[in-house]
Amino acid sequence: MPQPYTNPSLSTAERVKNLLSLMTVEEKVGQMLQLPANIPGNMDKLESWNVGSYLHCTGNMATDLQRRAAKSRLGIPLIFGIDAIHGHCFENSGTVFPTQLALSCSWSKSLVRKMAQVTAIETRACGLHWTFSPVLCVGRDSRWGRINETFGEDAWLIGELATAAIHGYQGDTLASTESILACAKHYVAYGESTGARDAYEADVSPRKLLSIFLPPFEKAVKQGKVGTLMVGYQGIDGVPCSANSWLLRDIPKKQWGMDGFIVTDWNNIGSLYETQKVATDYKHASKIAVEAGNDMIMNTPEFYESTVELVHSGEVDIALIDESVRGILKSKFDLGLFDDFRYTDLSKKNTILGKEKHWDVALEASRQSLTLLTNNGILPLSDSDKPSILLCGANADDTIAQLGDWSFGSVQADATDDNYHRDDTITLHLGLQAAADAGRCKLSYVRGAAPAEADFEEISQAVEVANNSDIVIACVGDTLSQHGEFHDRANLDLSGQQQAMLEALKATGKPLIVVYMASKPLTISWIKQHADALVCAFNPGAKGGTALTELLFGDLNPSGKLTISFPEHVGQMPVFYNKYTGWHAYLSARTDKQERYIDMPSLPLFCFGEGGSYTQFEYSQLVVETPTLQASENIEDGSALDVSVLLTNTGKCSGIEVAQLYIHDCVASVTVPVMQLRGYKKIKLVAGESQRLNFSVPYEDLSLINAQLQRVVESGEFKVLVGGSSKSEDLLCADFKVV
Ligand code: NOJ
Repeated sequence: MPQPYTNPSLSTAERVKNLLSLMTVEEKVGQMLQLPANIPGNMDKLESWNVGSYLHCTGNMATDLQRRAAKSRLGIPLIFGIDAIHGHCFENSGTVFPTQLALSCSWSKSLVRKMAQVTAIETRACGLHWTFSPVLCVGRDSRWGRINETFGEDAWLIGELATAAIHGYQGDTLASTESILACAKHYVAYGESTGARDAYEADVSPRKLLSIFLPPFEKAVKQGKVGTLMVGYQGIDGVPCSANSWLLRDIPKKQWGMDGFIVTDWNNIGSLYETQKVATDYKHASKIAVEAGNDMIMNTPEFYESTVELVHSGEVDIALIDESVRGILKSKFDLGLFDDFRYTDLSKKNTILGKEKHWDVALEASRQSLTLLTNNGILPLSDSDKPSILLCGANADDTIAQLGDWSFGSVQADATDDNYHRDDTITLHLGLQAAADAGRCKLSYVRGAAPAEADFEEISQAVEVANNSDIVIACVGDTLSQHGEFHDRANLDLSGQQQAMLEALKATGKPLIVVYMASKPLTISWIKQHADALVCAFNPGAKGGTALTELLFGDLNPSGKLTISFPEHVGQMPVFYNKYTGWHAYLSARTDKQERYIDMPSLPLFCFGEGGSYTQFEYSQLVVETPTLQASENIEDGSALDVSVLLTNTGKCSGIEVAQLYIHDCVASVTVPVMQLRGYKKIKLVAGESQRLNFSVPYEDLSLINAQLQRVVESGEFKVLVGGSSKSEDLLCADFKVV
């Protein structure tokens, strides 16, 4: 007689309850273990350790393991996790999207959602069920190696875009060939480690956690219904995240009602003993891990035997293990792994991955990610006079530099076949070559300087070709060996001979257009001062070269807006728009203005929200429709702030604008940022068109965390600021109050 848990007509809760009641301690602890399939010996442990999950399976690994798991005593299926971060990139034929940082500059929730849907379909087609994405880290310091994985520097925007990604990954139901489980990571404040040192201690107060770093995760749980969270490596104020039961149990599960499970990052539990030294051995670390609320343990093999012993000796309460296993089993049932979706027909993989309609989404994502930072009128290029163009810079023709991290693999995933995606990638060189082939320009390419190479012997050749060209386009930035995990930087200047190349090209007197292809903001003030135009692509995805070519020739009107500030100098780090008041200012004799630093501006080189277009937009008639809001005891019940503004396209062509709304609480019981993003609208207007944009800011979004760590809206005066960037000269301002 089959056990009830095998019966699909019963509820998930009934099936989980029945299955748990049948499991031994060993089977339960095994469910909590996740091993990397690509590390030799780990696949052999499936039966002896009752392993519940593997990560980083490629090829047939997942299918083989799943068949073996089906033969175990209870036949519990495995769940497979993978870092499908900007597309399912560990498959050569997978669709590769712009990185999170690049895509965030589109400010497009619908595009983020579509990217996630395509990724879900392609990941599931390979027999995998769970992506370790999206990243909700707040990217405020470019020295950190993983800035490219973030949605930028603003916690509110991160919450919006991450929620869109989660909806795309998880779909309406998980039991579908079009859905996978999402994972909001790295929980929490991992990007805020001191000095941007990867995985190093983060000195973040509880108030800052509640104000800045937890809210995106709260949105991911409450609005996104995210299935899993991944715990950050680092400690916060002395407590490693994986040892913090307030963080893992109280906040997401008790306060936010999270229904899924929590996975550690890579060997977090081993690190409690090996590097963080809060445990005396693996057994002690395992006890801390279970008690704190880590449900699934990634790549700490010692956890299995230690925890089995701890339960048998009564040192760990089996009820805690049950709680963790319940969440894991529930996800497996929700994914349909006990029923129709246990196996995947891999023979269909080739017809699903990299479909034309998937690449169409990727190209659109590349287009909307591009941000025009300066332009003295040189762009768009006119193809009527067929300009002769010198293209220069190794990044103009380098798949690895263009696609960025998690495309060929990463240090952890150990999938470093750098031939991946070559056939599908259109570099800037290939894009411009296609334009030349179509008769739009004449093109010469000289490789020139590369970010990670010291030598540059082709200066004279580049200069010679530049002298005989009408226009020079230089592509500069960084490459894969200069970012990612274990790759923090202390110097943010252009590396290699890239700066020398730019200066030599500029000296020819030819117009100089710079395409910036990098994982992060670098210190490029020379480019701002000297280039005729600057286009920021970050890592624009496999179709980036096509999108860039369209932009250069004006087939595409750029619409991206930065989601991260560019520093003037590395000494400015961290630099972000939602800063605090109170930094001493003095009247500088040098500039005759109020200054803060004695040796450089206090403002970033390029600000959050900044990005140009081939047309112009004008904001006028800012109206606060609700100038007085009644204070509400329960912040979820208060009435919204309604604001409208007139936006006009005053230029000569149609364009897309991202209109941004910020608020400022004028006098509060605690210090608050000068402004905080609380809304935006992405809108297309034809030349001469005007439209009134209406914003509605939920009352809750006017709140702050007070010194007693309560979220409140305080009565008093507020300001609302609306415009095309976070720069004060771009914003209209009006008052409202809460009484
Ligand atoms: C470590 C990284 O920090 C995390 O982002 C990733 O998901 C896991 N390794 C698995 O590869």
